[in-house]
Amino acid sequence: MAKLTFSRVFLFIFFISFFVQSSNAAYNVISFGAKPDGKTEATEAFLKAWQSACNSAIASTIYIPKGRFLLKATVFRGPCKNRITVKIDGTLVAPTDYRALGNSGYWILFIKVDRVAVYGGALDAKGAGFWACRNSGKSCPVGARSITFNWANNIVVSGLTSINSQLTHLVINSCNNVVVQNVKLIAPDLSPNTDGIHVQTSTGVTIKGSTMQTGDDCISIGPGTNNLLMSNIKCGPGHGVSIGSLARELNEAGVQNVTLTNAVFTGSDNGLRIKSWARPSNGFIRNILFQNIVMRNVENPIIIDQNYCPDNQGCPLQSSGVKISEVTYRNIQGTSATAEAVTFDCSPSSPCRGIKLQDIKLTYNTRATTSSCKNIGGTSSGVLVPESCL
Ligand SMILES: *[C@@H]1O[C@H](CO)[C@@H](O)[C@H](O)[C@H]1NC(C)=O
Repeated sequence: MAKLTFSRVFLFIFFISFFVQSSNAAYNVISFGAKPDGKTEATEAFLKAWQSACNSAIASTIYIPKGRFLLKATVFRGPCKNRITVKIDGTLVAPTDYRALGNSGYWILFIKVDRVAVYGGALDAKGAGFWACRNSGKSCPVGARSITFNWANNIVVSGLTSINSQLTHLVINSCNNVVVQNVKLIAPDLSPNTDGIHVQTSTGVTIKGSTMQTGDDCISIGPGTNNLLMSNIKCGPGHGVSIGSLARELNEAGVQNVTLTNAVFTGSDNGLRIKSWARPSNGFIRNILFQNIVMRNVENPIIIDQNYCPDNQGCPLQSSGVKISEVTYRNIQGTSATAEAVTFDCSPSSPCRGIKLQDIKLTYNTRATTSSCKNIGGTSSGVLVPESCL
């Protein structure tokens, strides 16, 4: 009898420990053949680890230890059977020859995944060769975004550092429920089109506690973005936080419910920018809130530009169809690098409506700044430097 009880207890403990261990399957890329030497290609090993994790019925972790792992353009494809955590202590490096990423448009691509979290890690896309090609006017491959999520839901990217992307560092496209936090995205001021984060056709994206020092927009917000919250952002150098360009197409999804709060812009070309082509469009931008923002030596701290038409090509009526409404600027303080700190250049055919300025204090060489308004309606309140033109 006592013996039976003992074996039952033993069996019980055995099962408990089995479940504790197996409640999360772990796949170390080293055991799939990856070498942390930065020279041996690790793409196959990463894909094998992904296949194992993706086929796992229980939640799994892919572990990338310290070291440098050479990775070519790689697709991590779902759907997968359970949640996957990718824990990165090392650095993923792209091939030195920029042509190796070829014309794929991406470097690391997650596609149709659900419940994927990426923690830590560094990406070095080695973009300098690609920028040099672009700047030389030669014909170059289209280039690669460093990390992209397409048709992905319930995603976390936390503690990632990305340097020297060829194009945008991080792209969120056709996703729901994404949290990006504590990321650092870095490329030189003059590197072409190295945006920090691009969001489009996505709902419920949160970007917080992150730093972008890049050659293009820190965050660019494309058509079909709903419920985007950005907080505690450091931007600059770069082109600022930009909604648009919209009106690239006639039929284009709108942008709505976007909040940026507690951000610091340092030496950026723009601060808070809304931008659309001067072209016909059914698009809109509405319910936007910018609040508690510090500007340090920013060229255009607040700007709406609906006259975007590089080289005056393809803008027959020179007027944007995008309807901009309910945009609030609240508690925006600091210094402008130009005399005109607030520029509202709205469309003559669809004027901006419901623009609100509240407690704005922007100086230029310790003097007051100016503002300029075209085709706009709205209200202003509180301390206003520059004087409101609304
Ligand atoms: C606006 O977006 C926030 C997330 O940033 C969300 O919590 C809120 O419910 C959204 N509001 C509406 C009206 O959809």
